[in-house]
Amino acid sequence: MNQFGGSWTEAKMEIVVSYAKAYLKIMNNQSWAKTIYFDGFAGSGIIDSEKSDEIKKGTALRILDLDDPLRFDIYYFVELNDIYKSSLEQLINKFYFGRNAHVVQADCNEKLLKLSEFLKENKNYRALTFIDPYGMSVDWNSIKSLANLGVDLWILVPTGIGVARMLKNNGDISDAWFSKLEKFLGLTREEIVNHFYKKQIVNTLFGEESVTIKEVNTVQKVGDLYKQRLNTIFKFTSDSFVMRNSTNSIMYHFMMATNNANALKIANDVIKPNYKL
Ligand SMILES: C[S@@+](CC[C@H](N)C(=O)[O-])C[C@H]1O[C@@H](n2cnc3c(N)ncnc32)[C@H](O)[C@@H]1O
Repeated sequence: MNQFGGSWTEAKMEIVVSYAKAYLKIMNNQSWAKTIYFDGFAGSGIIDSEKSDEIKKGTALRILDLDDPLRFDIYYFVELNDIYKSSLEQLINKFYFGRNAHVVQADCNEKLLKLSEFLKENKNYRALTFIDPYGMSVDWNSIKSLANLGVDLWILVPTGIGVARMLKNNGDISDAWFSKLEKFLGLTREEIVNHFYKKQIVNTLFGEESVTIKEVNTVQKVGDLYKQRLNTIFKFTSDSFVMRNSTNSIMYHFMMATNNANALKIANDVIKPNYKL
């Protein structure tokens, strides 16, 4: 069972399900089109609140709950943990028997590359993709593979809990962390440093010295940067639903990238009511 807390988890699921409903309504009117729901971090199917005994359906089951005529032609769920994978598979076999649903134990990155190959070979397919990691597990190369395809990509970006924590105030970042940042953002070390840091001359007891200063509002800057990066692959990226913890610090930005102007409008519409959280 996956563990979550916070009303933003619920809001995130509602955003994806509301978007999927609107998406399927539109796709149903395109008789040539087939649809795939690709969930790269599917979980066990159920979520367990940290604050109560309540057990809720996770996004995967809520998407499967959308029924005739709002069904996807293919459901593809990727989950790395074998226990969670089996749990989701059993729930689907029991309650959603007959759907064209596949649950695989794998790394999301590997399967995103497979999705892009599939879409290149099957031009009548459109994919709604939900990427919901805890941390920085999605490589930029995996996102890049989705360029010029019929993909709408909802992605949870660990701006506060991931990237910003690695960007140390004095710029003293280990090689291992730089490699992780490069892989995640698809930028070079130099580009990352230039984006987040500046050099300043300060007067010290021993004369002028050059010091490294981190730009302010780092977390928001990471969110803006990821949106910019997505805009190099997709035509449009939505506003972000910003998720904060109990001390009001930003943890994640949740956004949608697409090549379709109408899809962008729908995404912004489903995000908006959640701003107040
Ligand atoms: C935030 S939870 C997913 C919750 C789910 N999307 C939902 O809304 O119900 C993240 C899940 O991703 C799985 N996971 C972690 N790393 C992964 C990877 N590289 N590829 C696929 N799944 C991964 C974890 O085991 C965990 O179940």
